[in-house]
Amino acid sequence: MSPWSRATNATGSIEGPEPRRQLSTRRIAGVAALGTGLLHLVLAPEHLTVSYVGVLFVLGGLAAMVVGVALLRGFAHPAVWAVGIVVSGGMAAGLILSRTVGLPAVVGLPGVVEDAWGVLENVSLLLELAFLSLAWLERAGAGARRFRWSPRTSGGGADRGARPEGRVARHSGMTRRGALAAVVPVLGAGAAGRLLGGPSFGLASASAAGHDAGASPGGLAATHGGGANGPTFKRGDLVDHAANGFNPTDILRDFDMGKSRRLASGRTLREWELVAEDKEIEVAPGVKYPAWTYNGRVPGPTLRATEGERLRVNFINAGTAPHTIHFHGIHRAVHDGVPGVGPGLIEPGGSYTYEFDAEPFGLHHYHCHAGPLAEHIARGLYGTFVIDPKKGRPEADELVMQMNGFNTNFDAEGNQVYAVNTVAFHYVNEPIKVKRGELVRIYLVNILEFDPINSFHIHGNFFDYYPTGTSLEPAELTDTVLQGQGQRGICELRFPFPGKYMFHAHKSEFAELGWMGFFDVS
Ligand code: CU
Ligand code: CU
Repeated sequence: MSPWSRATNATGSIEGPEPRRQLSTRRIAGVAALGTGLLHLVLAPEHLTVSYVGVLFVLGGLAAMVVGVALLRGFAHPAVWAVGIVVSGGMAAGLILSRTVGLPAVVGLPGVVEDAWGVLENVSLLLELAFLSLAWLERAGAGARRFRWSPRTSGGGADRGARPEGRVARHSGMTRRGALAAVVPVLGAGAAGRLLGGPSFGLASASAAGHDAGASPGGLAATHGGGANGPTFKRGDLVDHAANGFNPTDILRDFDMGKSRRLASGRTLREWELVAEDKEIEVAPGVKYPAWTYNGRVPGPTLRATEGERLRVNFINAGTAPHTIHFHGIHRAVHDGVPGVGPGLIEPGGSYTYEFDAEPFGLHHYHCHAGPLAEHIARGLYGTFVIDPKKGRPEADELVMQMNGFNTNFDAEGNQVYAVNTVAFHYVNEPIKVKRGELVRIYLVNILEFDPINSFHIHGNFFDYYPTGTSLEPAELTDTVLQGQGQRGICELRFPFPGKYMFHAHKSEFAELGWMGFFDVS
């Protein structure tokens, strides 16, 4: 005989055992309140960073825990239920409102809709709705008891015999109907979560993509053939990074410090070897481009040194055309890497060692300066060159972004593929993972050929902008910068909210042809 049937059939000549109590609505509600209270305390740091509303959530969480403990200990005064109903109802309403229409009354963030809807939010909402429905069951039962039946007794056999079903089932255990009633809001909350755009048991980040796609260039890009794998030129395909020999996700944080040693003078000598070679690369799914590369990648390695160091770059031309390396920086003419000065062009099979001091500190770059110049740059012979100030910069998650493009039909009129770090839509397919609240520093360089101006725009945020990185004081707080070819600058920002944030050229044509991506803030 199951507990259910024992509870509903506790009649007959022989007095049955006291109905089992572990499934009482009071106890389940107590567990739900305790659970939701604990969850809100776990989530407290997140609430507190968003706004002062977090304080209310913390107090609500503590109150829910008190209610939970009271109910579990058997202290089920109507006031305890009332506090639980107010707290659970308030927190559930707050969660749903803040994720749909925003909380209009919140000072500082009126009507701001949060796009995060994660596992913990789902669980706490389910617990709150479960508590509310259990409270409703319990209070409905109490009402019935008060108005339809004689005052409560200790559950004696005679009374139970008189009103077997209603009495025992409603007060001492859980009926099938009660169990169903408790399950309905749980299923309902899951369905509501899906309807509201949040995955029932998914990750917070998954909800944001669809959110953004409709209203931003992401939606436009999707018409290029997007779908499950994101916007690409050829539906469902991704670039073969292994065949390319580099992955734009790795290029972001790949700083090449070279080999360094201390000279007798006490200065540091830092050395690199750069090899120019011809190499076909895939710049968008199915779009191959006959590139010229430094060290087999486009852009070339990000060279990084510290102000005042002695730098030496051993250049080997393993390509089929004459090339050079022209560095931006302060140096003698003989090491400038232009035709007709010093060593001039380095013929295929030739080599040369460029040597200069690391100055000034800032964000620079290097590229081939052989003619026709446009072709030698457009083919891919360029890279980022960072000189850190002696004192350094504040610790940050540092990212290198070379804005580039590919004139795949060689008409020298604009480009057919635009990108950051070469592969069109790469950071749409593989969003850049960053941490909420952490300082992010972007070394942004424009090397785009055949178009006069490039731009960088970020969604849902602003950044401090340091043109050429030569000052430690930002010149501007903005969300969009323009760069002509060869211009560059450092962008510093922190993401206050989790979710997916688009970044792209604020030139729709470029964005739709590959120059866009996402930050995935967790
Ligand atoms: Cu060249
Ligand atoms: Cu230049």
